[in-house]
Amino acid sequence: MTSHSTKKHSKTLWAILIATASMNTPVHAENTGKSILDQQCVSCHTLSLTTPQTVEQLWESKGPDLSSAGVKYKSEWMTNWLQKPVRIRPAGNFYANHIKTGEKSDVIDKATLVDHPKLSSNDAKLVVDELMTLKHNQQLVKQGDYQPGTISMTLGEMMFDKFKGCLACHQIEPGYGGLSGPEVYTAANRLQEDYLISFLRNPQAWEPKNIMPNKNLKEIDLQKLVHYLRALSKEDFK
Ligand code: HEC
Ligand code: HEC
Repeated sequence: MTSHSTKKHSKTLWAILIATASMNTPVHAENTGKSILDQQCVSCHTLSLTTPQTVEQLWESKGPDLSSAGVKYKSEWMTNWLQKPVRIRPAGNFYANHIKTGEKSDVIDKATLVDHPKLSSNDAKLVVDELMTLKHNQQLVKQGDYQPGTISMTLGEMMFDKFKGCLACHQIEPGYGGLSGPEVYTAANRLQEDYLISFLRNPQAWEPKNIMPNKNLKEIDLQKLVHYLRALSKEDFK
């Protein structure tokens, strides 16, 4: 008898507890771009310019620095990518953390790579509006620096590979090219042309510890390389 009533009692208590708990659940405040960034993104991305002092510090970061997003990325690309992220750096944010020695050459240790978080289309738009206001280093970008033009794929590839040695670190199609840098066959879809010119002119002005060498490219070659990156981005590799 006693034990039965205790059970009954505790059941009622649970019911009260559950009811109170759900009553106290706060109503979700409307998401803003800033609140989403603060809650879901800053664990991996910095939003205010930080300058790593050593290569090791740079490589410890869990994602690219987004403090220059507004002068760097194309907003339409970002909005789409955040809803359906696909890998850009074949070997993760910093390749050295995800490469293992294979039999013939180094291979990517896929097990150590994680998928990027996905956003709803509404959240992606809110976040992108906020990211486009972040403009660190904007003094390095000159509007209209890139002058649209064309280059043949053959000449473009010769420059990228033989003349300037870029292929050693970058893929120009899926599975073809180096692994330590981001794939470049989508670079012109992702990145603003004036940013590309500025970055190629002096990668270390953007990130002093960046391993991409400054090749002291002539202005005319900067333009040609961006013509080539744009042409590559129009190829259909699927
Ligand atoms: C677990 C860590 C992590 C979290 C959390 C994260 N990211 Fe990322 N993000 C990365 C990594 C790593 C990359 C590089 C992906 C690649 O190269 O394939 C990346 C790439 C990006 C890029 C493309 C940048 C570039 O230069 O390639 C954008 C834009 C971006 N993230 C935005 C966001 C936003 C917005 C959020 C929050 C909703 C977020 N990320 C949350 C790790 C993260
Ligand atoms: C030693 C390896 C190396 C070489 C050689 C190299 N790069 Fe890079 N490149 C990188 C790395 C690593 C990054 C990523 C830097 C960063 O995120 O700040 C990068 C970034 C880039 C980007 C920006 C891509 C993005 O998604 O943010 C472009 C474009 C680019 N490189 C083009 C070139 C061109 C053109 C050449 C030849 C003139 C070249 N690279 C030579 C390693 C290299």
